[in-house]
Order: sequence, then C-alpha cells, then structure tokens
Amino acid sequence: MKQILMTGVGAYLPEGILTNDELSKFLDTDDNWIRQRTGIVSRRKANPEELTSDLAVKAAHQALKKSGVAISDIDCIILATTTPDYTFPSTATIVQQKLGAENAFAFDVQAVCAGFVYALSVANGLMSSGQSNNALVIGAETFTKLLDWEDRSTCVLFGDGAGAVVLQAENSKLGYGIIANKLYSDGRYKDILYVDGGVSKTGTVGHVKMRGRDVFKHAVEKLATAMDEVLTLANLTPSDIDWLVPHQANIRIINAMQKKLNLPDEKVIKTVSEHANTSAASIPLALNYGVESGKIKPGHLLALEAIGGGLSWGASLVRYGRPV
Ligand code: UT7
Repeated sequence: MKQILMTGVGAYLPEGILTNDELSKFLDTDDNWIRQRTGIVSRRKANPEELTSDLAVKAAHQALKKSGVAISDIDCIILATTTPDYTFPSTATIVQQKLGAENAFAFDVQAVCAGFVYALSVANGLMSSGQSNNALVIGAETFTKLLDWEDRSTCVLFGDGAGAVVLQAENSKLGYGIIANKLYSDGRYKDILYVDGGVSKTGTVGHVKMRGRDVFKHAVEKLATAMDEVLTLANLTPSDIDWLVPHQANIRIINAMQKKLNLPDEKVIKTVSEHANTSAASIPLALNYGVESGKIKPGHLLALEAIGGGLSWGASLVRYGRPV
C-alpha cells in the first residue's frame, strides 16, 4: 500500500500587522490583558482587496516549490476555510484557476479551526483509495473580515494567513507520511462558538460570537482525548512525538496540552504570539515556521491537533518528509 507523504510546506502572511497597542487605541483592552490571557502580541490583517484565495495561492506556490511537484501534476486541491471568497463556487476552484492547476479536482472543507486536520484526513482517504496521487491541502483565512471590532472578547483573538502542504502517494517506507487521523464533532455545542449570519439564516455574513471560557474548557479536555486516541490508533506514545504542532488559539491551551503530553519546550511549535488564531490556517502556518526555522526535519513525528466551532475537533500524526 502507498504511503501519503508530506513533501512540501508553504505559508503566507498578509503584510498588515495589527499590534495589541494599536487595538487598545479604539477598544477597551490593553496589551497586558491580551498577552496574559492569550499569549498574543500581534496579528496579521489582510487589506480589503486581499482575498482568502490570494493568500492561499501564495502559500501553495511555496509548498509546490519546496516539494518540487509541478502544478500540472497536482490532481486534487482541498482548501479548508471559513472565510470563502464567495458563497459559491468553492474557493478551492478559484485557487485552482489562479494556480493554473488544470488537472485537479478542487473543493472546500468547512470545519472552522479544525479545518486543516479535517482536510488532511479527507486527502488521506482520497489518496489511499487511489483517487489522487499529488494533492495540495491548504488552510487559508481572512478571518478578520468576520470580526465585530467593537467586541473586545473576540476581535483581539484572530488573525489572517494561509498555509499549504503538498501530499504525494508513493511506495515508501512504512510509518512515513500520514500515519493516523481521528476526527470528532458535537453539534450540541453550536452556541458557544458561531457566526450570527449566513445565507439561509439571515442573508448576511455576520460576526463571530464566542463564550470563550466554555470553549477553553472543552478545548483542553477534548484535544487531550483526541491526542490519546490517535496515538493509540498508531500504537505510539507521547514520548514518540518529535513536535507537537497545535492549533494556535491560546498559549494557555497549548501549554496545557504540552503538560498533559509531558513534552519539553523544545518539542512544541508556538506561533500564537505573532499569528494569533488564524483558524484553518493556524496549523500549516505553524508547520511552515517549524520547517523554515530548521526545527522540523525529515523523519520527525508531528502531532497535529485543533478544535473550533461546531464543536469540531481532531488530531493527526504525520512523519514529515521523505524517508532519510
Ligand atoms: O479556535 C477556536 C477555539 N477558540 C479558543 O480556543 C478560545 C478559547 N477561549 C479563550 O482563549 C479564553 O477563554 C479567552 C482568551 C477568550 C478569554 O480568556 P478568559 O481568561 O477565559 O477570560 P474571560 O472570558 O473569563 O473574561 C475575564 C474578564 C471579563 O471581565 P469580568 O467579567 O471578569 O469583569 C471580560 O469582560 O476579562 C474581560 N475581557 C477583557 N478585558 C480586556 C474580555 N476580553 C477582554 C479584552 N481586554 N480583550
């Protein structure tokens, strides 16, 4: 059976930087509160003309370059996003057109902050069943366009960005590439994190609404269980993990996971201070930082986990790169 290898990673952040101090000029908040409660120092903000597809295309170009795969060889594009360019067509098809990926089928996955883990798992299924050999999996968001800038309990938390990976189905050493995935949802918790707009409900885009303390509690508990279960599926233990690459929503959630897994600082990628919560883009942005900074190397076992609106959550284990 073929292995689904992760052979390239790329990312893009919009140029506009919004610091905590800048937020405190028009909002009843301050740098100290935001840093202490979330670990966030600044976030990127796309300008009004910059679309989710624009960020996604830039991240995808980088990932393709790193993997050495030609655009014409990409046969599948899966884009995780909550902030699509249009209601339809899917942003993935817009990205396909902008990349000139004429031999691909393309579609979006909507699982909010868990979107990248969901997209990775869907790609793994399609590739394992022979429907794709070279896939682009992208997480891209212009999440700041969903924010109510008068609601200090949400607008300080999020940012914009995109990250992408190239996956290749190859006959390879067992235990490389995507090793295991575990996905979960529980729609009973819709009201603790949602957007109060939508085509069918209001005909408007709406704004993010969140009961932060409730989400926090679920995050710590559910991510720990998800990680336990995915490790059990793969017959591995926390001590096998080379890098925890978690969703970057709050440094306190990340630190709690690090503690539960008993991992030292040298095994956890933390980018929340500069990126804030970029929803579906957060894991591939963190992954790209890990690879670019030389921390993540081919052969390393990566543990990915994320939770978001739905609630939807999940975890994946990936041995990065090609066998060394
Ligand atoms: O990616 C999707 C998953 N999302 C998450 O994982 C988010 C999970 N939740 C969290 O990260 C945290 O719950 C928050 C960062 C959102 C909030 O932190 P908290 O420690 O749970 O604070 P809190 O909501 O309990 O609020 C504490 C106080 C409140 O004031 P009172 O009622 O104690 O007087 C808030 O009104 O902090 C106040 N507050 C603020 N103060 C200054 C809320 N937002 C702000 C703010 N600046 N931006």
